[in-house]
Amino acid sequence: MKSEILQNTIQKLFATDKGILAADESVMSINKRFEALNIPQTIENRLAFRKTLIATPELHNYISGVIFHDETFRQKIEAGKTFAQYCEENNIIPGIKVDEGLADFPNFPGEKVTMGIDGLRKRFEEYFTLGARFCKWRMVVDVKTSTDEIIELNSRNLAIYAALAQGAGVVPIIEPEVMYDGDHTLDECREKMSFVLTHLFGDLALYRVDIKNVILKTAMTLSGKQSLVKAGSDDIANDTSHILLSTVPENIGGVVFLSGGQTPTEASLNLSKIMQHGPYKFPITYSYSRALQDPVLEAFSKNTADTEGIRKIFIDRLNMNTLALEGKYTLENETGLSSHIDNVTHSQDL
Ligand code: G3H
Repeated sequence: MKSEILQNTIQKLFATDKGILAADESVMSINKRFEALNIPQTIENRLAFRKTLIATPELHNYISGVIFHDETFRQKIEAGKTFAQYCEENNIIPGIKVDEGLADFPNFPGEKVTMGIDGLRKRFEEYFTLGARFCKWRMVVDVKTSTDEIIELNSRNLAIYAALAQGAGVVPIIEPEVMYDGDHTLDECREKMSFVLTHLFGDLALYRVDIKNVILKTAMTLSGKQSLVKAGSDDIANDTSHILLSTVPENIGGVVFLSGGQTPTEASLNLSKIMQHGPYKFPITYSYSRALQDPVLEAFSKNTADTEGIRKIFIDRLNMNTLALEGKYTLENETGLSSHIDNVTHSQDL
């Protein structure tokens, strides 16, 4: 019964040519993004921005699921209707970020562990009742400085989270985010990702997580944002595709990419090239936050009331990523509406 619910969710999430919107920035993270654009950091503005995104007409043609943060999950998109209820009615699956962010860990300066295992079983029960059918837990890895010990600890927690999520009928997205920040080379990134993913899938097996009901959310294999030698999109696609084929079990429910601080155009181009390496044994799509939202947020900062104009930009970006999923995106496809941003905003929870 639970397995059927999970399978049904996965099938809908990976509907052809649809992506998953990550709108699950914590209050702290979205406030930082607002601050950078001089948007007052109020609960009203967070709600208004997310309403503008989610109530975009025809969103379901592009997006199969939305990951929310707890604050939004408890808010109403309109009188008498929660975001989750609205999504269900509009053929979009509501999801929830359940980790409680990152914390320092004694004796490992600069490293972060993901919090939130305590009380998680109870929280899953409530989120299921409120309509959540999938969820996300994110750990972070720095290519150069993350130690094996902290990777192993975070990875074990991801496996425990995944087991609890499946027990509650909620599909777990497991997100070991290998950070784009840093001056590492493409080779160093590939090596770290390989270690992280191999270890993580070992832990999932150890805790008997049903792999066909799991979604991996991964970064692409990139040279660091501050690296002097930038890898090109062909190498990025080659290496990312190789990592997927060599570390991810073929029977996984699916794989989604985060954008990680790439610009919207980089994220579309790299995705398109990765898709050209397919077909893969498992479904693949995107689950971007910044690469979808940054141009939209900039427009929102200029005139919060111009809902129609803001949504045009959002739809334009979604169109670009639909092309990318088909492996057909090139920079020539850009209309200019959503390709330029002044700044890539701040990462989550850092
Ligand atoms: O955890 C990260 C989000 O789910 C994806 O965000 O696309 O800005 O990296 P991003």
